[in-house]
Amino acid sequence: MIVLLDNDTIQKIAAGEVVERPASVVKELVENSIDAGAKKISISFTGGGKNFISVADDGEGMTEEDAKLSFLSHSTSKIRSIEDISTLATLGFRGEALSSIARVSIMEIHTKKEGAEGIYLRISAGNVEEVMPRPRERGTTVTVRNLFFNVPARRKFLKSDYLEAEKIKTMITGIAIVYPEISFSLFHNQSLTLHLEKITPEERIKELFGDEVANEMIHLEYQKNGLNLSGYISLPEYLKERGRLEYTFVNKRPVRSGLVRSAVKNAYGIPTKERAPSFILNLSVDKNLVDVNVHPRKEEVRFADENLIYSIIFKAVRESVGIGTEAELRERGYAWEMEPTAFWQLHNSYIFAQTKTGVLIIDQHAAHERILYEKIIKNKPASQKLLFPLIVVLSANEYEIFVKLRDILAKFGFEVEEFGERTVRITGVSSLLKDLTEDEFKQILYEIRDAKPFSDVARIFACRGAIKQKDKLTPDEMNAIIDDLFATENPYFCPHGRPTMIKWSIEELSRRFGR
Ligand SMILES: Nc1ncnc2c1ncn2[C@@H]1O[C@H](COP(=O)(O)OP(=O)(O)O)[C@@H](O)[C@H]1O
Ligand SMILES: [Mg+2]
Repeated sequence: MIVLLDNDTIQKIAAGEVVERPASVVKELVENSIDAGAKKISISFTGGGKNFISVADDGEGMTEEDAKLSFLSHSTSKIRSIEDISTLATLGFRGEALSSIARVSIMEIHTKKEGAEGIYLRISAGNVEEVMPRPRERGTTVTVRNLFFNVPARRKFLKSDYLEAEKIKTMITGIAIVYPEISFSLFHNQSLTLHLEKITPEERIKELFGDEVANEMIHLEYQKNGLNLSGYISLPEYLKERGRLEYTFVNKRPVRSGLVRSAVKNAYGIPTKERAPSFILNLSVDKNLVDVNVHPRKEEVRFADENLIYSIIFKAVRESVGIGTEAELRERGYAWEMEPTAFWQLHNSYIFAQTKTGVLIIDQHAAHERILYEKIIKNKPASQKLLFPLIVVLSANEYEIFVKLRDILAKFGFEVEEFGERTVRITGVSSLLKDLTEDEFKQILYEIRDAKPFSDVARIFACRGAIKQKDKLTPDEMNAIIDDLFATENPYFCPHGRPTMIKWSIEELSRRFGR
């Protein structure tokens, strides 16, 4: 039987999406303090944050009126409409954090704005129990007691005090990295466990992780296409099996990103989980090119052009640690324990190659596309004379497209001349194509009609020229594809952004078989 849930249940479910655990409360409160322009933030918690969390700041504070609105659902001072999200300068925007936390705890807000009275509110499970004037300095303190006291199922799911405390510390460390201009103090069970003064970014990394860790990393700063990547990455000789640091920020917002992780890891050329780099990276990207509104706790973001982000990070890391293409990398003896020895083709579509550490499965079409694409970008394709010129009669529409695309066709190696009304004579074709029929020529016209930049057209020809799924390959051909693929700048993705390969390590196979 289907029933409509009552309001209280609906709200508790929604609250659970925003507030997963004490660390998410701390995150939301600290983000609010940062948004309020705080220069000093003091965080205190006991019992792994389950019993008590308090975040005090010297930010702009709230008036009584604002404070009374702040813990209602969808109340925010940060946006007015959905469009504002794309130009957002603050970490918060949904107006859900305080209300969600208030609903599942006993919350106190003590705040004062310049020129207004200090005010104190106590809210229990979302209901205001007390409001009274109480003086204080400018700023805000939000205290959260007995988190999830009215959602026992959620409370039970929390980990031990120790583990929850660790999560809070990691969360604060993450935020502190990208806000070196703010001082943070953290009190755990009343004792001061972290104290960070306002300082330079480099100094903050040293303070947080120690000189030794900082010395194993190098500074990275890279700009391209309006993107700015900055932070710290491991020197190649300090890749580690465990104890790695991994912090990713997008516009200073802490996020998890598989894309960033694999771009960084792959840039070092590591096919297995054996050793991996540490990294602390902030990606500054135009707010229009990233969607921050895809995850309830804002822990993930979506990029408009993942392929671009991937290749920029990949390149930035390679250049910063001074490693070149995969082939050069192998020469210098880094990781890549590849050296495929045996090849096998599955359904004439996928190449299986045995490597030192496992198996590599390659999508033959996607891989060849990547190889051709980079070739085209580096040297414009040559022309290949046709043995018998091809005469093609075009429709009015096709002819119009042809006239527009004439120059670009020439750049890709086509030699085409007019040959009477709406008729063309093709004497040479792009060397990327094995040969050309009348129909294919027309298809090409339609395909490239809307492709504007050179790179779009390059992608189309790479796709047309690449070996197809179902093409049978000899072991030598398979070997050549793998070699050529790893000599490209971005071997892991085809020009359309799809993966070219999957790697299975022996460890992973063993794990799957329960060994
Ligand atoms: N520490 C603080 N200092 C000043 N104002 C705050 C603070 N915390 C919350 N607020 C106010 O309360 C509003 C609601 O907060 P929140 O529920 O976290 O939503 P959001 O941050 O998405 O706007 C904020 O928009 C802000 O105006
Ligand atoms: Mg907020």
